[in-house]
Amino acid sequence: MDPVEGGQRVPSRQRPPTLPQGLDLDATVQFLPTPEAKKMEKSPAHCKKLWIGVGLVAAAAALSLLTGLLVWRLHRHRNEAVTRVYVGSMAIANQPFLPAYKDPASGAFAKMASLVSQQLKEMYNTNPMLGKHFRNSSVDAFSNGGDDSVMTYYHSEFDIAAPQQASLDAAIQSLQTAAGSKRSRQGRVQLAPQHALDVDAVIAQAIDPRMTSSSLLIKKSFDVHVREGGVIQSPGFPDSSYPSDIYLQWRLRADAAYRVRLDFQTLSLEDDCRRDFVKIYDSLAPIEDAAIAEHCGSPQGSLSFVSSGNVMLVTLVTNGAKNFPGFIANLSQISLPPLDCGGPLSGDVGIFASPFFPSNYPPRTSCVWNIQVSKGKLVKVKFQKFYVGNDSNDCSRDYVEVDSRRLCGAKVGSTAVTSSSNLMTVKFNSDWSYVDQGFFATYEAFIPSDCPSAPNIFRCRNARCISRAMVCDGKDDCADGSDEFKCEKSVAMTTCPDSSFRCRNGRCVDKVNPECDGEYDCEDASDEESCQCGSQPYRSSRIVGGEAAQEGECPWQVSLRVAGQGHACGASVLSSRWLLTAAHCVQDKTLVSHSRPDQWEAFLGQHDLSRTSEWTVRRKVTRIVAHRDFDQLTFDNDVALMELESDVPLNQHIWPICLPSPAHGFPDGQEAWITGWGATREGGAAVNIMQKAKVHIINSAVCNNAMNNEVTDGMLCAGVLKGGVDACQGDSGGPLSVISPSGRVFLAGVVSWGNGCARRNKPGIYTRVTRYRSWIKEHSGV
Ligand code: ARG
Repeated sequence: MDPVEGGQRVPSRQRPPTLPQGLDLDATVQFLPTPEAKKMEKSPAHCKKLWIGVGLVAAAAALSLLTGLLVWRLHRHRNEAVTRVYVGSMAIANQPFLPAYKDPASGAFAKMASLVSQQLKEMYNTNPMLGKHFRNSSVDAFSNGGDDSVMTYYHSEFDIAAPQQASLDAAIQSLQTAAGSKRSRQGRVQLAPQHALDVDAVIAQAIDPRMTSSSLLIKKSFDVHVREGGVIQSPGFPDSSYPSDIYLQWRLRADAAYRVRLDFQTLSLEDDCRRDFVKIYDSLAPIEDAAIAEHCGSPQGSLSFVSSGNVMLVTLVTNGAKNFPGFIANLSQISLPPLDCGGPLSGDVGIFASPFFPSNYPPRTSCVWNIQVSKGKLVKVKFQKFYVGNDSNDCSRDYVEVDSRRLCGAKVGSTAVTSSSNLMTVKFNSDWSYVDQGFFATYEAFIPSDCPSAPNIFRCRNARCISRAMVCDGKDDCADGSDEFKCEKSVAMTTCPDSSFRCRNGRCVDKVNPECDGEYDCEDASDEESCQCGSQPYRSSRIVGGEAAQEGECPWQVSLRVAGQGHACGASVLSSRWLLTAAHCVQDKTLVSHSRPDQWEAFLGQHDLSRTSEWTVRRKVTRIVAHRDFDQLTFDNDVALMELESDVPLNQHIWPICLPSPAHGFPDGQEAWITGWGATREGGAAVNIMQKAKVHIINSAVCNNAMNNEVTDGMLCAGVLKGGVDACQGDSGGPLSVISPSGRVFLAGVVSWGNGCARRNKPGIYTRVTRYRSWIKEHSGV
């Protein structure tokens, strides 16, 4: 349905800019005589003059008062002191850990805590910035640091003018590098002998601001030893919802040389992580670097966590009342060594997995497997499951390294890697923060096909044989990059032919649609990056001529609503923040400003428009980027991006669709799907239950013939030429999707226009997404 015009609020006229509270402009301007006021005055002329004089003086006084107040307020606001809280930990060497340190009420705790506070103060005093603004420190807990050392967890407060916060952060950071670099004793502060603590590994970071919000009414800590098992749960679980505005933390300890294991049986909080969340740390203090997981809503994936040492912290923050059950989790301890991780693997077949798979792997873990198969054979490793951190930072945090090639992120379908000899080294590494489920892999030996020993034959590292003419031709003919390995040509200059995928390193891949197909076609793995998209958890065997979709079948489908009016257009989820829709949906009409983000609301995870379900997420829109060359007459460049006010949680009901690379081909005749809540017949009304229908990609020349040559290069035709199946009013902006051979769903088009709906020889016209791939990247970063 084209967004309708009637029944909308008229946008309010521009209002004067808001003044700081307490300053009422209307009251001040009353001092100035208005022409009307003058006309009404009946007093003699000299009285008039007097009145004007008094009025002017009063006006001047009022104006200077107003200016003064404004300046004062501005100044005060700028210099208002804020309290900045840093949390940290430090190891104190040459100190035995006393059992009494676990009890914050014990004398031993108090004595040690005061020594530590003293030490912190001295440390801050070595830096003028820190010394000047330091308010106080308090020690929250101790744990056994092993090797005759005590781990201390503390927080320190500083009072500082808001604009100087960044400098304070930097000063704290410098402290961390000076005293905290492990084993380096430089920068250590020696106190008077009676206080001397041998301080090492200092870590200090600004606390998560959601944890110090002034709205938090209750703050409580619980100390729990997990030796005998047990559970922790949110207050009221399972009979009532947890209370609002609380900060609770559970400090979990295991015996020395054991790890803490935490298994959530239930975890169900409000969807919005800004309000309610559970955050887990590999530490006893909420140090950001040690945060291993944060969850809100009803998270998917493994909810079992294992610490790297003998402590773990679970925090629960809630804000504003809403009914959610909360959580319950089992506790246990598991012995630290031997960690079943890495080692030699011999035999021609075998399996291996990240530690504790399918539970989340622990942070700060590194394992190396050395696979050796019979002489003359090569190794092929298949990662059957692979969830190792995210792939947004060059695999520098958590990763798997196979013969020095790094893999990270989530891979759907199995991913295979082959060796170039009978040996293969696989390394797994996790850093301190954010863990993931890890991987499960099988390996097998295989006999490489031998290349005939002819001078015109090149043997790839993976034993494939190719013609020598293909070496250094800019294409990855070996599919492991070895034929393009040491070539002189600068890859930066490479431009690829239209149908060929361009790897990040500039190499052109000559395979049809290689992106996200589960095979590495670029040696820099760029064809398999950003592939958390397009999987259909509930796949089953309007749209005119369609049928009801199954709930959750199209987790990228969005209903866009105009305030006060209901469903107007469709859209597709590109990421937790961005949607793609049609530019014609966001054009201003006579009565309504559809170009204004505040007129829109997006409903994600929805199936039946007449009711919201537990999966429905509703978000305001903060930004609309319509293609600036959108042509109202021809509908050329009918594409727009919408940014949501805040991230939506991704789950099996809300999931991004894959964006095709510019080279991605959707051949004529290919099967495609249209989905939405649009009219089910020409001239009909939108429907409540999401519909889906199967169409086919139609050759552009044929289409142009049928559509009076109105189809541009930025458009794509799809439909059923004999009629009866089509998108219709209300489907605009929604997806035309294609399921790739690997099962992933790609966005081929955006519902744009048609001649009526489902008429014979009148296919639907869609915005050709491959054409706008770089425009999308440029404006949304996706
Ligand atoms: N412009 C329509 C809308 O705003 C979509 C039209 C699609 N028409 C078609 N026959 N395929 O909803």
